[in-house]
Amino acid sequence: MHPKDHAIAIIDLGGQYCHLISRRLRDLGFHSDILDHDAPAAVVRQYAGVILSGGPSSVYDADSPKVDPAVIETGHPVLGICYGHQLLAQAMGARVERGKSEFGSSDFDVTGDSSLFRGSPPNLKVWMSHSDSVSELPAGAHSIGATDACDTAAFADEGRRWFGLQFHPEVDHTEYGTELLGNFARICGLVARDPHASRVDDIVEQIRAQVGADSVFFLVSGGVDSMVAFSLCARALGRERVLGLYVDTGFMRLGEADELTANLAPLGLEDRVHIHDASQLFFDRLAGVLDPEEKRRIIGRAFVDIQSEAMRRFGIDDRGWFLGQGTIYPDTIESGGKKGKAALIKTHHNRCEEIRVLMEKGRVVEPLVELYKDEVRQVGRDLGLRADLLGRWPFPGPGLAIRVLCSATRADRIATVIDDPALAPHDGFDFPIKSVGVQGDARTYRRMVALTGPLDYDVLHRTSTRLCNANTDFNRITYVVGTTGGTSIGDASLVARGLVRSRVRVLQEADAIVRRVAAARDLLSTVWQFPVILLPVTLAGLEVVVLRPVDSENGMTANFSRLSPAILHEIADTILTQCAVGAVLLDVTDKPPATIEWE
Ligand code: XMP
Repeated sequence: MHPKDHAIAIIDLGGQYCHLISRRLRDLGFHSDILDHDAPAAVVRQYAGVILSGGPSSVYDADSPKVDPAVIETGHPVLGICYGHQLLAQAMGARVERGKSEFGSSDFDVTGDSSLFRGSPPNLKVWMSHSDSVSELPAGAHSIGATDACDTAAFADEGRRWFGLQFHPEVDHTEYGTELLGNFARICGLVARDPHASRVDDIVEQIRAQVGADSVFFLVSGGVDSMVAFSLCARALGRERVLGLYVDTGFMRLGEADELTANLAPLGLEDRVHIHDASQLFFDRLAGVLDPEEKRRIIGRAFVDIQSEAMRRFGIDDRGWFLGQGTIYPDTIESGGKKGKAALIKTHHNRCEEIRVLMEKGRVVEPLVELYKDEVRQVGRDLGLRADLLGRWPFPGPGLAIRVLCSATRADRIATVIDDPALAPHDGFDFPIKSVGVQGDARTYRRMVALTGPLDYDVLHRTSTRLCNANTDFNRITYVVGTTGGTSIGDASLVARGLVRSRVRVLQEADAIVRRVAAARDLLSTVWQFPVILLPVTLAGLEVVVLRPVDSENGMTANFSRLSPAILHEIADTILTQCAVGAVLLDVTDKPPATIEWE
């Protein structure tokens, strides 16, 4: 443990990116602790500096998290980010104005001198996700940066060493963001340690301390996270004290079980994982279920039931065994955070009610719970896992079940043409198909738009950002890459379809084509993740598929990937000719305002 006066206190105001601030500081070799917003000033005073995180609230909400003014007045440097910036400005007597939202990328100009921006270029692309803004300068502060929408996007009071940033320096997509946090840590007087030391030994020690003489039972999905977590437990406890179960839910990718066995063999662990086909149980329980959150809860419960049954079958009782999970940090934050303060975006299946109960009993081991994907990959490399396993695209626990969107009703020609000259050179179709997004740190469930016209990524990006910022009905913008036989997407129909094997099969085939082309065209390392989604829509009686390639560092924020037109068309044409698919769409929305997955 680090001494508090060598660390920064990050006050958690409920933001999706709060933990990412500590991650950035960790990357730079600085310590930090995340504290509740009601942490007493006496505790905060022991730290070298204070960061007020972003959050989903408005400072005008009656129940928005506030901090004790004494926390700001500890005499240490303070950095407010997004909601924290507004809270700090308000505490300094400035006005915070509602509206003027910005979601996604903005052009930021450095307009004044400050120690915070030391070494920064004069213009930065920054990442915004806010609805309110600071509309006048706080007393004693000067403006140090502006965007088109916001004159006071950054301010500084150098005397008191108080700083506010409307944008998120902690997200990967903000240029110079990590350096800004490094500057702040140095303003706090901190000195960096070696950020590259391996974490394996520390984690192995933690597992041994938690598990004692017991053993760990795992549900292994074959993905990076569960394989790294399983291997860490095997390293910590020995192969005889770990046991894995691979559950074929029916919603896995084609060929998944064979790959799992191939990856376990070099570790000498292939006989420590049993394979169980439970697909019928999953299809039965999900029959007729449409709501994405309900799907996730049912899947979570089914996993727990199968796991309990397996524990009985293998003679594993509560006392001798822990449940191991490969949960990583973003899984917990989108499920409402450890303490449920961040807004719920979606419930990850390893945070369902039954597992929360086991967690309260202290019977769950999650060696990766503080880490992000790229850190998990590094731990995997340090453990000697295969590069092709570690390089796999992330795949969610509930699998393709969440990527098959369902509908209870049917209706013909559901799209309405959007009458907006600013869409030119594209035409826009408003679809009453809702999916989950994240805007202003909160969950949204909004409609999608399909654009037709030229494949010009710059224009598509501008249009997509504008549509989601200006219109609160939308959180997803897609581009129509191709349709069968020249049909128009405007003729698509809504179909009453749930989760049935035949639909999942179509999606598995389309997904396999994407992975095949990606491997052949060297996309596996350049594209961060590539979900393929089935909409509850048909065109000329055939399914409609969405491609969702994204660039990201850790899944918390993302840009849609600008695939080369040749590769994009190769994928779409292959799907259109080889699968029962009538249209292929490309998602051209960033995260935020959309999420990576569709559900
Ligand atoms: P979203 O869709 O929230 O996804 O932008 C962020 C990352 O999380 C993955 N994801 C999951 N991973 N269990 C998982 O193990 C889940 O339930 C789950 N849901 C989303 C998603 O694939 C992306 O990489």
